Amino acid sequence: MALLAFGWSAPDPSPKSSFARCASFAVEFILFTTRPIRYRGDVAVARTQVGAEREGDSDPREREVGVSNRIFFFTGSGNALAIAKSIAAGIGGADVTPMAQHIGGFDASGEERVGIVCPVYAWGPPRMVREFVEGLKLSAEQYVFAVTTCGGTPGKSAVYIDKWIQAKGGRLDAGFNVRGDTYAAIPGMSEIAIVKLAGWLGRNHVPKQAKERMGEISEMVKGKKSHKVEKSNASVNLLASLIYSAALGRFRKIDKGFGVTDACVSCGTCAKVCPRENVKLVDGKPTWHQDCESCYACFLRCPQKAITYQGHPPNEPTHHPDASLAEILIR
Ligand SMILES: Cc1cc2nc3c(=O)[nH]c(=O)nc-3n(C[C@H](O)[C@H](O)[C@H](O)COP(=O)(O)O)c2cc1C
Ligand code: SF4
Ligand code: SF4
Repeated sequence: MALLAFGWSAPDPSPKSSFARCASFAVEFILFTTRPIRYRGDVAVARTQVGAEREGDSDPREREVGVSNRIFFFTGSGNALAIAKSIAAGIGGADVTPMAQHIGGFDASGEERVGIVCPVYAWGPPRMVREFVEGLKLSAEQYVFAVTTCGGTPGKSAVYIDKWIQAKGGRLDAGFNVRGDTYAAIPGMSEIAIVKLAGWLGRNHVPKQAKERMGEISEMVKGKKSHKVEKSNASVNLLASLIYSAALGRFRKIDKGFGVTDACVSCGTCAKVCPRENVKLVDGKPTWHQDCESCYACFLRCPQKAITYQGHPPNEPTHHPDASLAEILIR
């Protein structure tokens, strides 16, 4: 099936022992002391030297860096985070911020550039992205862009984001579709008839891989260039219009397919990566509560591979190599 054929950039390191996995998790967790994540480039460092300072900014780290770009991400297998980080570095620095932590609203109107980076689920953005955008405060002057990462058929994902921003009186200045550099195959997904059909309909309009476009996209964002909001061809988009909303509703309950094996060591990682707080530990074991985003982060990031989906453990690769576990912890 076409989706499975899409490549990924680098294999994970060789399998580790349970002790090594726990130790590496502990080290990552300790190292992860600041959030939002800040990626500095030369421009941001130069701004630091002139001592840029924003009004009402009580965080000394903000004053130190003085960046005024913010890129929000939502991710399951890490592609969106890796893209957000790459653009942040390419434009000279940005706060890279998880959407899941700001669903109640975020005032980004003081930023110079605002980015929204997310995966494509059923030819549109994940449910949480809409909730996030609806609570996002933007201003007319700033540059707003989106990047959606997919397996091959993005549908109208960036168009939806533009629509939601337009409903608030703004617009996307640029919308890009890329193919993730890592494809974490979910058991059974590529066999679904509608997925096969969409892949076939969109076979001549497959987006380039993220790594092939990061330079170009970063340049455009840095220069605040306008760019059309990219989308699939008309037949895929028609399918997307018919299916997207219904599919998102169904995704809430895909967590009924998860199970846990005796390999579980009750570390709680699955609950900590869940953007929906949909995983709760009961007697030390995960339980799911049918408010799922279908991001598969719990399944993909269990250090013991103790979570199964429809009876299967995850395959390698489980995530993008540039998206560490520590960076996707929501709590
Ligand atoms: C529930 C679900 C639905 C998906 N739907 C699509 C889709 O409609 N079109 C597509 O090309 N890829 C689809 N994908 C693949 C992801 O968009 C792709 O792997 C993406 O790069 C994942 O981003 P992430 O690593 O940031 O989570 C889907 C993946 C999942 C988990
Ligand atoms: S299932 Fe959850 S609690 Fe158990 S080992 Fe995996 S991540 Fe840790
Ligand atoms: S339960 Fe798992 S798949 Fe569902 S939203 Fe949480 S982390 Fe993602």
